[in-house]
Amino acid sequence: MAVHLSRFVRRVVRLLPAHCGVPAAAGSRLSTGRWTPPSCRGLSQESGETNTHFGFESVPEEEKAKKVYEVFENVAQKYDIMNDAMSLGIHRLWKDALLHVMHPQPGACLLDVAGGTGDIAFRFLDYVQSQKERQTRQRARSMQSPSWQDISDNYSGQKDWEGVEAECRAVVCDINKEMLKVGKEKADYMGVSAGLSWVVGDAEELPFDDNQFDIYTVAFGIRNVTHIEKEALRVLKPGGRFMCLEFSKVTNPVLAKLYDAYSFQVIPVLGEVIAGDWKSYQYLVESIRKFPAQNEFKEMMEDAGFFCVQYHNLTAGVVALHSGFKL
Ligand SMILES: C[S@@+](CC[C@H](N)C(=O)[O-])C[C@H]1O[C@@H](n2cnc3c(N)ncnc32)[C@H](O)[C@@H]1O
Repeated sequence: MAVHLSRFVRRVVRLLPAHCGVPAAAGSRLSTGRWTPPSCRGLSQESGETNTHFGFESVPEEEKAKKVYEVFENVAQKYDIMNDAMSLGIHRLWKDALLHVMHPQPGACLLDVAGGTGDIAFRFLDYVQSQKERQTRQRARSMQSPSWQDISDNYSGQKDWEGVEAECRAVVCDINKEMLKVGKEKADYMGVSAGLSWVVGDAEELPFDDNQFDIYTVAFGIRNVTHIEKEALRVLKPGGRFMCLEFSKVTNPVLAKLYDAYSFQVIPVLGEVIAGDWKSYQYLVESIRKFPAQNEFKEMMEDAGFFCVQYHNLTAGVVALHSGFKL
């Protein structure tokens, strides 16, 4: 314990000055491979190898995938608790906001890529269930002098919203088995199974046929993947919606300074204290700084072939929700 503590203190002392000296690089669009202009690509392209970013490091694309896998394998068990600790629980509101903007329709089929422990899929199923219940109540209340039988039929009927027979479905897809395992345990604990499936798969090579999904979400996952857009467009149905929730550029300069200080000085420490893993959380903070700012990412989505692209800032731009359609 004493050895562990002293090692931890040494690390704090060694790493803090470097963090304090790191310039806020939010706004760079280096981390997203094909979404990246060629001039910003890594140096080893000349040798036929394409570099990308792993936090502030420049690494070959294949190496990044391996390193990202290790990060999430290490943090899986503590992932949810760390999310609450780092964001003071606010990540829950950001995820709720995603569902609010999505407002899924009856029968919608969701693919949540880099879905990890399933937060978005749980919210999706919960949202559609509460919409269904609301509609059932409204239908019953609008009946003129219904019999008990009418009311009972309304509540027990198989028909969903507005009488449409349609079940919503959510697929959580993630490359990391450990993250999915934690998600499945959560689902069992919460008693959620209907309409939910868990699939191990790489966002760059999705194990699904073309034109399968109405909605494709990626929440706090796009930074980890080098090429995401081609597969997103392939698996979405025409008319389907791509939604990306991701850390972005804080719009208020004072808040931006506070946010930087918190990110670099507090988050890795929390990572060490709660999850015994400084490095993974240092990667997290660095990868956030490497992600493009709101407008840049919007343009990148348009260049990639999405239409009607728009975004909403959440918490002064700490997080942005981008959405676009496959038309
Ligand atoms: C920060 S977590 C986000 C989890 C979840 N979406 C959430 O909001 O809590 C990022 C996830 O991306 C996954 N991931 C990384 N690279 C991936 C890839 N190439 N394909 C699919 N998932 C990937 C990781 O395994 C991890 O579960």
